[in-house]
Amino acid sequence: MGQRAWAPGRVNLIGDHTDYMGGLVLPMAIGLGAEVTGDRGGDWVMLGSEQFDGVAEIALDSQSDPAFIEPPWARYVAAVVAEIAPRDGFVGVLNSTLPPGGGLGSSAAVEVAVATALGADLADPLRVAQACQRAEERAVGVPCGIMDQLVAIAAVPDAALRIDCRTLEIDHVPFPDDAEVAVVHSGDQRDLAKTPYAERRAECEAAEELVGRRLRDLSPAEVEDIDEPLLRRRARHVTTENDRVDALAAALTEGQLRYAGELLVASHVSLRDDFEVSTPRLDALVTELRATPGVFGARVTGAGFGGCVIALCRSETPIGPPVLWRGRPAHGAELRQIRD
Ligand code: GLA
Repeated sequence: MGQRAWAPGRVNLIGDHTDYMGGLVLPMAIGLGAEVTGDRGGDWVMLGSEQFDGVAEIALDSQSDPAFIEPPWARYVAAVVAEIAPRDGFVGVLNSTLPPGGGLGSSAAVEVAVATALGADLADPLRVAQACQRAEERAVGVPCGIMDQLVAIAAVPDAALRIDCRTLEIDHVPFPDDAEVAVVHSGDQRDLAKTPYAERRAECEAAEELVGRRLRDLSPAEVEDIDEPLLRRRARHVTTENDRVDALAAALTEGQLRYAGELLVASHVSLRDDFEVSTPRLDALVTELRATPGVFGARVTGAGFGGCVIALCRSETPIGPPVLWRGRPAHGAELRQIRD
């Protein structure tokens, strides 16, 4: 009897660049994801792939630093092995339907699928998500938040997941019946480790140092007192975005789709102007999607600097640009027994 572990990618409906500052986020799982199939046992984790070159071969007692393992995709596998210290090895295949570097949580899906295949206990989603979050930093040095890993595990169908990244409490927010999310790729793939992601985080921390308080506790009005213009803009994004998360959660619960769409657009503008993580292509796609009948609103999703935009639309609405995926919130990670 073999195993099949599945972990979804995600779109973030709202709340970007807030998770690592202890803020609020509202992602949902999508139907694209990473899958690990094979058999548990032995002293090695050995995975091949149809999408990625080379083979990941990690000894369970390996002392090597995951950041230097070859091929590069095996760094995620090695870092998960180092974090969860599984009892048994695994021989099998890792495949993903997510575009790498597309802003859809592709690396978190790989981490969670590998952790699940290696026997991590999905009944304790937070613990597994935290191990995978540490694995991301260990593998590629990206100081990410908890959002992608936690939604990949804790998502339930037909609901977005509100995460309070300070208390780590989660709430399932029902997704309106007649709505869908469409995902459109800008064509720009990016490697987060090579973007100013870590710089943005450092700027937010510098803003907190300057005011002597957590951004989470500041009101948007208080942010306007920050003297340094760049830090003021970064802090303005984070505080207004936290407010938009709860506004969107309420709008979705009440089925107020027009208002929900306006909040997505406001978030995009904030990410573009105050946080400076959009690109001309992402902006053009958002403009095009907003002009489409049946689309309530659109925004960049995830870290930005390239990757995807999302549109909140009425089910079945035809969308002009090629759609990578569309649908309603999907389920989180799972492990199944399969026959060989
Ligand atoms: C990446 C990180 C997340 C989050 C987003 C931006 O996806 O992995 O933790 O910070 O960027 O919201």
